[in-house]
Amino acid sequence: MPVTVIVGAQWGDEGKGKIVDMLTDRVDIVARYQGGANAGHTVVVEGAEYILHLIPSGILHEGKICVIGNGVVVDPEALVGEIDALVARGFDVKGRLFVSSKAHIIAPYHKVVDKAAEAIRGEGKIGTTGRGIGPAYADKAARLGIRIGDLFKPESLRAKVENAVAPKNVLLRAVSAETELIDVDASVAWLTKQAERLREYAADTGELLRSALRDDKVILAEGAQGSMLDIDHGTYPFVTSSTATTGGAVAGLGIPPTGIDRVIAILKAYTTRVGEGPFPTELIDGDGPRLRTEGGEFGATTGRPRRCGWFDAMVGRYAVELNGVTEIALTKLDVLDGFAEIPVCVDYELDGKRLGRMPEDMGLLDRVKPVYETMPGWNASTTEIDRYNALPDNARRYIARIEELVGAKISIVSTGKARDATILRW
Ligand code: IMP
Repeated sequence: MPVTVIVGAQWGDEGKGKIVDMLTDRVDIVARYQGGANAGHTVVVEGAEYILHLIPSGILHEGKICVIGNGVVVDPEALVGEIDALVARGFDVKGRLFVSSKAHIIAPYHKVVDKAAEAIRGEGKIGTTGRGIGPAYADKAARLGIRIGDLFKPESLRAKVENAVAPKNVLLRAVSAETELIDVDASVAWLTKQAERLREYAADTGELLRSALRDDKVILAEGAQGSMLDIDHGTYPFVTSSTATTGGAVAGLGIPPTGIDRVIAILKAYTTRVGEGPFPTELIDGDGPRLRTEGGEFGATTGRPRRCGWFDAMVGRYAVELNGVTEIALTKLDVLDGFAEIPVCVDYELDGKRLGRMPEDMGLLDRVKPVYETMPGWNASTTEIDRYNALPDNARRYIARIEELVGAKISIVSTGKARDATILRW
């Protein structure tokens, strides 16, 4: 029962989209298991750029089945927008894209609450994408959510919306007496309109995937964000609201854990983060902005400049252990081409003492000092190199050192945006 899970091993934006796209030829189904339209994949195929937020990039491959699992929170307008854009560019989507009827919907009121909650937090804001992710997952946990399947039961929809909206209006009133409240009628009308477009894609995707496993089909389970943004294991509260780690694939798709036989962690050759929260190897000046420029580090979803810093092996090792990683895809190696020296964080120091591992209290990451080991750069272009032996010696040393520090083999190295700018070490 072969399921390969793809997980982000840092704070998201590691380049999962390209790796998923590249591996799609070898699988039957690509299934997304958590997050929502907060994620953004940029995939380049034959020179054309595609930005996808919800639909797995597998859709760009003819004949592949794509699933949006029950663990995803779905913004219907974002989904329909992506479907329409794909159809306009000549892709057939019907009969290949299935959305779980159990997936929860992000309604416009979730975005209103996302923004209001950030305003209430003020200085302590999370820096969310504003896409309504947290409030939609909060409704799910509070049993106030509207699921895709609910859209097709008009007789009970209104009561569900009334229950969901009432507590939100209390919150909005608390923000300010002038705040416009959420209108139940408008929300019901909006949801009813979405039903028309979503009907043909809604399915029992759990059964679809389990039946594929019975038939020995190969599934690629695609996570969004990264392990350090995981609701439980990340830098809480500066995290997203779902399980971005491997475990999320099981709950978010309705497949058995015993089906997973391969976990590929995606690690960028340096580190980035969007939004607020601790980031030990962040470089505010000099090499930070340089990494941002060379790596084009601006959010695919919000366009926000990403915070940049050196590779953090403490994060890498934690993610490898946490996710049961069997191999690593190292991305954006070419971004480091022009750096004479490349520091790698090998430990954290807190109050003069080395920690040796990720602290349980991640709040401490605001206070730790990274302990760096400096590797010599390679001062040569690795862009689009597709053979391991063609890499400069120092680039291979860098890769080998990361493998040693994080404890897993790097079997894929990405050296550019295009599909074939990839080294496979299988
Ligand atoms: P939310 O997921 O919109 O609630 O945002 C929570 C945190 O996760 C913020 O710091 C976001 O910047 C971050 N985040 C959410 N999605 C992504 C992503 O796809 N890449 C990187 N960061 C993300």
